[in-house]
Amino acid sequence: MSDLLKDGLSRRDLLKTTGQVAAASALVGNLATGLYAGQNSTIQMALVGCGGRGTGAIANALSRKQGPTKLVAMADVFKDRLEASYSGTKGPFEAQVDVPEDRKFLGFDAYKHAMDALKPGDVVILTTPVAFRWPMFAYAIQKGLNVFMEKPTTVDGPSTRKMLALAEEASKKNLKVAVGLMCRHCAARQELHDRIKDGAIGDITLLRAYRAAGTTGNADVKPRPADKNELEYQIRNFHGFLWASGGGFSDFLIHNIDESCWMKDAWPIEAKGFGGRHYRGDLIDQNFDSYTVEYTFADGTKLMLEGRTMPGCHNEFASYAHGTKGSAVISTSGHSPARPRIYSSQKIGNKADLVWEYGQKEPNPYELEWDHFLEAIRSNKPYNEAKRGAEASLVTAMGRMACHTGQVITWDDMLNCEHEFAPNVDQLKLDGPAPVLADADGKYPLPQPGLKKTREY
Ligand SMILES: NC(=O)c1ccc[n+]([C@@H]2O[C@H](COP(=O)([O-])OP(=O)(O)OC[C@H]3O[C@@H](n4cnc5c(N)ncnc54)[C@H](O)[C@@H]3O)[C@@H](O)[C@H]2O)c1
Repeated sequence: MSDLLKDGLSRRDLLKTTGQVAAASALVGNLATGLYAGQNSTIQMALVGCGGRGTGAIANALSRKQGPTKLVAMADVFKDRLEASYSGTKGPFEAQVDVPEDRKFLGFDAYKHAMDALKPGDVVILTTPVAFRWPMFAYAIQKGLNVFMEKPTTVDGPSTRKMLALAEEASKKNLKVAVGLMCRHCAARQELHDRIKDGAIGDITLLRAYRAAGTTGNADVKPRPADKNELEYQIRNFHGFLWASGGGFSDFLIHNIDESCWMKDAWPIEAKGFGGRHYRGDLIDQNFDSYTVEYTFADGTKLMLEGRTMPGCHNEFASYAHGTKGSAVISTSGHSPARPRIYSSQKIGNKADLVWEYGQKEPNPYELEWDHFLEAIRSNKPYNEAKRGAEASLVTAMGRMACHTGQVITWDDMLNCEHEFAPNVDQLKLDGPAPVLADADGKYPLPQPGLKKTREY
């Protein structure tokens, strides 16, 4: 156990967290719980965060065949993003898009107006950068809405505690909550998981996960031009700022961490890690460009994780499991198709030792996650991935903090860590201060392993 925090979740924090959640839930009091759409009624949807994934998520949602669905409201902080998403959705889904000008909302409170346009039992899609997840989830619970939210769902200890408390609130209201860790819904990985549970590779002794690529997302951020608004710049380049995304680490590596932990059906209890900024030149983001983490599970099993955003190096985007009787490919190259396989030896890729492969065309997990979510809404089955999403986000943050501080970080250290990256994220204004500020040279605070030990920056 590191010396980061020994006292557990303090009473003050518990009160603070429960106070925020209670405020959200008090307003829900007079809503009937258990409201749900039957097979034939139209589920209305609002899209909050109309960027790349949001536009993809609403397309996935509207393409499913579990009964009528309609997009009725959109919200974003930037008009160009909202309009691009609107036309990109209206084109292919003309009949299912009913978003007149007065249901297109802009600004930091746009999410509230978009959710106000829905009725209890409808669906709100939260696809902004993760920083805004907890206030938006709280408001959705208050409004009695079912929620699809993208991963990660938290970036630090305090936001994880809030999301865990909100997850319970959502269950109490019988709301359905989906979290965009779509690999969990992949049919091919599911079959691999079942086979591993049946002993196909014996007891798991080692997991390995890699996401090594060139420049990824907007993790490389150039200095802010003087005429650009500070907060807008950070939000548009959210992978560069730890408050907004948890950095490239949380945003990019969570899937491989999550699918590996799924095969073990456990979360690690501890992480130690390494990393550095090798070729950052004049880039001003807060990311390291290479990360290595050793995660340890309660039974001593390790998950080794490597992440790199460095052009010109070996690229690999895959996860593997090793056991006492063989080994397995969890995913091969990116999210889909996963092409999972099982080998009778540790020689992954050795054709003579191949004992199983999924072998069929893999259904798209981004569509499957919507099939499962909508099916749960239509048949009113319990469905709440918020706790698991927060836990996956916490485990990811644990690895990131271990690399950024150079300390051993336990699950409890991370959960109870007091450093909240954006405590006022629910009150931001475009002309107000951003959650992290640059110095006189335009540089933002960076992690310094060994020097900054209890905070990442
Ligand atoms: N599951 C996956 O495979 C997958 C893939 C890509 C992205 N994602 C996740 O989706 C989320 C969004 O990523 P993206 O690539 O679409 O980014 P993006 O920048 O393309 O889209 C984010 C959108 O949210 C808007 N926004 C930001 N703050 C807002 C606020 N407070 N209120 C309303 N709108 C706001 C932005 O203007 C932008 O339009 C991230 O959490 C990311 O990790 C998941």
